[in-house]
Amino acid sequence: MAQEVRGVIAPGKDEPVRVETIVVPDPGPGEAVVQVQACGVCHTDLHYKQGGINDEFPFLLGHEAAGVVESVGEGVTDVAPGDFVILNWRAVCGNCRACLRGRPWYCFNTHNAEQKMTLTDGTELSPALGIGAFAEKTLVAAGQCTKVDPSVAPAVAGLLGCGVMAGIGAAINTGNVGRGDSVAVIGCGGVGDAAIAGANLAGAAKIIAVDIDDRKLETARSMGATHTVNSRESDPVAAIQELTGGFGADVVIEAVGRPETYKQAFYARDLAGTVVLVGVPTPEMKLELPLLDVFGRGGSLKSSWYGDCLPSRDFPMLIDLHLQGRLPLDKFVTETIELTDVEKAFERMHHGDVLRSVVVL
Ligand SMILES: NC(=O)c1ccc[n+]([C@@H]2O[C@H](COP(=O)([O-])OP(=O)(O)OC[C@H]3O[C@@H](n4cnc5c(N)ncnc54)[C@H](O)[C@@H]3O)[C@@H](O)[C@H]2O)c1
Ligand SMILES: [Zn+2]
Ligand SMILES: [Zn+2]
Repeated sequence: MAQEVRGVIAPGKDEPVRVETIVVPDPGPGEAVVQVQACGVCHTDLHYKQGGINDEFPFLLGHEAAGVVESVGEGVTDVAPGDFVILNWRAVCGNCRACLRGRPWYCFNTHNAEQKMTLTDGTELSPALGIGAFAEKTLVAAGQCTKVDPSVAPAVAGLLGCGVMAGIGAAINTGNVGRGDSVAVIGCGGVGDAAIAGANLAGAAKIIAVDIDDRKLETARSMGATHTVNSRESDPVAAIQELTGGFGADVVIEAVGRPETYKQAFYARDLAGTVVLVGVPTPEMKLELPLLDVFGRGGSLKSSWYGDCLPSRDFPMLIDLHLQGRLPLDKFVTETIELTDVEKAFERMHHGDVLRSVVVL
């Protein structure tokens, strides 16, 4: 029997979000209904609301979530009712050319639930990133559920579902940061701070945080940054070189998503070093670099999708490290809020006042 629950929808471009009754179908084959316990507010939710992703309104927002599996459809064996899970937006298929090459974190055919959640009048909802978790319950593909240790606080666990995983993974998976490395992170919001925490976890010897806002630099220090640079006040490339014996950092992570900060990252790395782009640019942005510099400086220029994570491998491991006191995931939760506060949370995010507001249900 389909159920009626409360959820936050974005009804149309730039219209305020509102809480509505939504209809959640019973799980079909390969699907699961999850009782959502917490869901973080991410920039991508705001982009959906602004019409920046596509115009398939109305959206059911929210995608950074943790909860308990309520029911599963036919053929689901990996999770069962009662399991505490983190939701992911890249359920790997196992059959595409990336999966078949043994690189499932690049899966080119990730999947979501087949059935649609709707409004009570039957209007189909587009769930943000195939999740839609600013809701008491949501319908997902079972592969989007990853079981983790249930003793973690849901508000903390859910963060691994998007931005925090993207940042940690940019450092440990894409950037392959290792013991003793020097790392610079440009842009210290939730994603950049997570990259700092990831670099710290991996044993980086020097972690240089770069931002234009001193408040962000202060938080970055508490995440493990050893040095900070305000790039409004000083040239970040020169500052990073100075802090690394004149050479530049082994790995530079760009967590803003702009051509000028990408260029800083490109020139602030040591010869043969690695640049990781985890910030997401907009369609009109262009990058111009002397091709000779691209060749002459060597190394690798990489992009990081969702931190190149494999949820089944990374979520349980990172939650365990957190529970052991080795990864301060709790520091990313600036405030917990109600479903009705999402619009206000967007404003606070826009003003740079929070790392994460998390809806707790
Ligand atoms: N690759 C992925 O899978 C993935 C996943 C989630 C988010 N993201 C992207 O990561 C980026 C960061 O997300 P967030 O949630 O941390 O955003 P945020 O707004 O919280 O943080 C951005 C930070 O960059 C700083 N900043 C802005 N302009 C700057 C400049 N010129 N120089 C230095 N710092 C500057 C801001 O002060 C802020 O601290 C976004 O582009 C987001 O879309 C990527
Ligand atoms: Zn695949
Ligand atoms: Zn997100």
